[in-house]
Amino acid sequence: MEIVLEGLDARHRAAADNGPLALHSLSLKVSTGEHLAVIGPSGAGKTSLLQVLATGLRPTSGRLSLDGLDPWSLSSGELRRLRSRIFYAPQIPPLPPRQRVVTALSSAKLSELSTAASFLNLVRPRFAQESYEALCAFDLGEKLWLRVDRLSGGERQRIGLAKAFMSSAELWLVDEPLSALDPKRSQQAIAALVEEANRRGVTLITTLHQVEVARQMFPRVIGLREGQLQFDLPRASVTDQALQHLYAQFEHELEQTSGPLHPEDSLTLPSSSAHVIACR
Ligand SMILES: Nc1ncnc2c1ncn2[C@@H]1O[C@H](COP(=O)(O)OP(=O)(O)O)[C@@H](O)[C@H]1O
Ligand SMILES: [Mg+2]
Repeated sequence: MEIVLEGLDARHRAAADNGPLALHSLSLKVSTGEHLAVIGPSGAGKTSLLQVLATGLRPTSGRLSLDGLDPWSLSSGELRRLRSRIFYAPQIPPLPPRQRVVTALSSAKLSELSTAASFLNLVRPRFAQESYEALCAFDLGEKLWLRVDRLSGGERQRIGLAKAFMSSAELWLVDEPLSALDPKRSQQAIAALVEEANRRGVTLITTLHQVEVARQMFPRVIGLREGQLQFDLPRASVTDQALQHLYAQFEHELEQTSGPLHPEDSLTLPSSSAHVIACR
């Protein structure tokens, strides 16, 4: 899905009408199939940007175009169709605690089912094999029939990502997918996500706290600060100096989340799919 933002302003949902802008004069162009990481200190507007792209937050001014469509001038039916082409994974996935994993995953398919079939799916999940395969990519195949409340925070986060595999969306918007994962799991999860996005040719936009992951796994990295674009660079051009500038006065976030940029401390991430776990 092709994305164009021009001079876009947006406010957080909870902010007053005259409150500060979460995104300010943002212009951006993303081509179909591109992979982008969005980094920046807390409060920079990363989540707000994903929400605007997911058409969950209406910009206060400026232009948003998704494959040539302005979501906010569409009819409700057209907007629903557009939304069915977008997958948004919030940082904490909204998984019903008493539901089984297979049912929670199948919910990504509900837009393809009739209302009756959706209800039936709660009792007799229809997409067990597909759910199993999506889980395997995140090393969670054996959790298929467990209840969500039996899982750890990290497992739930990975199930939130596996949901992307169940959807037929052309744009994946993923908010801080690694926040509950240890380095090894982070490595596997991001590799699985990137690999599948590549295979399907979907456009992938991921916000990340881990700047090393952004630099190693995403060809293009965007730095946001105070709602504004600070840089938009190919990964090789994201220097330590650019990061220090982006995180000035927030150095603790840079250090805590990515290590102090010493090579021996940074994650060693696969450049290929070597770490993606296959179904057995
Ligand atoms: N609960 C809130 N109420 C009002 N404004 C908020 C709230 N949360 C965030 N904001 C505003 O939105 C801005 C961007 O927040 P957000 O998009 O969540 O940033 P990030 O994801 O980069 O941490 C914040 O700097 C703040 O101005
Ligand atoms: Mg956020």
